Amino acid sequence: MVVTIIGAGQMGRSIGTRFAAGGIAVEVIDSDDGDARALADELAGRGDAEATVAAGGQATGEVVVLALPYDALPAAVRQYGDDLAGKVVVEISNPVDFSTFDRLVAPPDSSAAEEVAGLVGDGTSVVKAFNTTLAKPLLDGEVAGQQLDVLIAGDDEDAKQKLAVLIEAGGLRPIDVGPLRRARELERLGFLHMSLQARLGWHFRSAVKFLS
Ligand SMILES: NC(=O)c1ccc[n+]([C@@H]2O[C@H](COP(=O)([O-])OP(=O)(O)OC[C@H]3O[C@@H](n4cnc5c(N)ncnc54)[C@H](OP(=O)(O)O)[C@@H]3O)[C@@H](O)[C@H]2O)c1
Repeated sequence: MVVTIIGAGQMGRSIGTRFAAGGIAVEVIDSDDGDARALADELAGRGDAEATVAAGGQATGEVVVLALPYDALPAAVRQYGDDLAGKVVVEISNPVDFSTFDRLVAPPDSSAAEEVAGLVGDGTSVVKAFNTTLAKPLLDGEVAGQQLDVLIAGDDEDAKQKLAVLIEAGGLRPIDVGPLRRARELERLGFLHMSLQARLGWHFRSAVKFLS
């Protein structure tokens, strides 16, 4: 199993680190080839699993993570569309209005994940995940000694299960929260969590966790 990560920024690095720690081969794509190379080298240097730059910029992984800003998603789906056919596509964005930091910009009766699901072809399964885990805790794999929860929404049970196995391998706890429309709640939760950072002085080092 190979996971393609498109976007070698903060989240690409953190998700790649967790997957590599779980022994999962990762290939990286970025709009900047140098950034893709640097992340692939960093992950390969850990020695846990193979990590490469995607040859020819083509996403060959069975699972493709769109570690991209919300605004970049439509163009990326167009750009990598053929590569996404039949794959599990993981959408991770928090579509926040960063000019006001006071609202989400995805349509109120939808979500970024559902928008992406409307852009990919039939047979491609979009799963929402990782938007409620912040980059630094994800990189570390824990907060205050606690395992991180990764909340997953999607309409394809097999796709969610495939991702859950990868998440578990990376030392995290996957929680299936239901169908893809639950992404609306996940995006609101992700936004709420972000909005608390300055208010509570957490410096983006906190985690959303369910206890029972
Ligand atoms: N940071 C967090 O703690 C966090 C937590 C949860 C969810 N998220 C979500 O995760 C997503 C990524 O966030 P991030 O913090 O990782 O952002 P980031 O650090 O800005 O990384 C995004 C990367 O994607 C690259 N990129 C943009 N368009 C591309 C394309 N078409 N093809 C290939 N690469 C492309 C960017 O390259 P350029 O710089 O060259 O444009 C950049 O390297 C966002 O949707 C965010 O809402 C972030």
